[in-house]
Amino acid sequence: MSDAVPRETDTLQRLRDEALAAIAQAGDPAALNQVRVRFTGKRSELADVQKRMKDLSPDGRRALGQALNAFRAEFDAAYATRDAELASAALAARLESERLDLTLPPRRLRPGRPHLLTQVEQEMLDVFIGMGFQVAEGPEAEAGVYNFDLLNIEPDHPARQEMDTIYVDGFDDVVLRTHTSPVQARVMTTQQPPIAVVVPGRTYRADSVDATHSPVFSQVEGLVVGEGITMADLRGTLLAFSRALFGEDRDIRLRPSFFPFTEPSAEVDVSFDAPGGNHGWLEILGAGMVDPNVLAMCGIDPERYSGFAFGIGIERVAMLRHGVRDIREFFESDVRFVAHF
Ligand code: PHE
Repeated sequence: MSDAVPRETDTLQRLRDEALAAIAQAGDPAALNQVRVRFTGKRSELADVQKRMKDLSPDGRRALGQALNAFRAEFDAAYATRDAELASAALAARLESERLDLTLPPRRLRPGRPHLLTQVEQEMLDVFIGMGFQVAEGPEAEAGVYNFDLLNIEPDHPARQEMDTIYVDGFDDVVLRTHTSPVQARVMTTQQPPIAVVVPGRTYRADSVDATHSPVFSQVEGLVVGEGITMADLRGTLLAFSRALFGEDRDIRLRPSFFPFTEPSAEVDVSFDAPGGNHGWLEILGAGMVDPNVLAMCGIDPERYSGFAFGIGIERVAMLRHGVRDIREFFESDVRFVAHF
């Protein structure tokens, strides 16, 4: 019985060393909790030592009781320290993984905007709407009767070839409109004067592509029909348009030309001043007085009414206004070009 106390004390000493090592090695709170169960739980060696205490002498019990208390105190202190270490390591790891770098530059927002051609078209329409014009539209796949016949362009007329018409497969007499002029015929066959319309839209010709030609392009057509409409009205309208769009100091010039549906016809130039004092003219549109024969074919009395018409290339205006050198820029959708305007 007398050597029982030293034996239990040795056991405690060994448990202490093992427990402190296990506490130091526990890598996370769950592992640390396992250490507590293993060394201080109901089925631990420590519990066995406590159970055997009742067999000791009072002095032995007191001595072993003190040793047990010392073990508990040391175990609890080491445990609490390790527990705190693991908690702060876990917190640090979590903070690191959830870290936001508020100094990173934000991703730039790129708001969309209308294409340059759409912007210029709107600008052009605004000018005409301000003068009292209404906006009309027509189909891009157009009947030959509107694209040609009602515009005085007869089947064997050279203009049909000159216009490099794109025909629609499988349809008799349907073309991709070669200009917006067929909408003139559509308006005149359904409305009586006074008429003042502008017609924006896409047009098609089997042109090969280069810096100034595209098989797809767009026009704004104008048509005014009424009593006593003269070439002076045409000139005044186009001068006001050119000044509104290109600047109040601009002038326009009408040069004789030919279109089957207007008589007389003109090509219209707008003046420009280039750096270095150069003064010049740039062609922006075709125009003329509506041919009386066209009025008659469309059901408008040419004895009573007269009219003028014009067709403006939107790409051409946009190129002049914004210094675009190549028409292909409008259709290639390069984001650097699109975002520039
Ligand atoms: N339609 C003609 C063209 O595309 C332009 C035009 C329109 C000419 C109206 C006169 C009158 O070339």
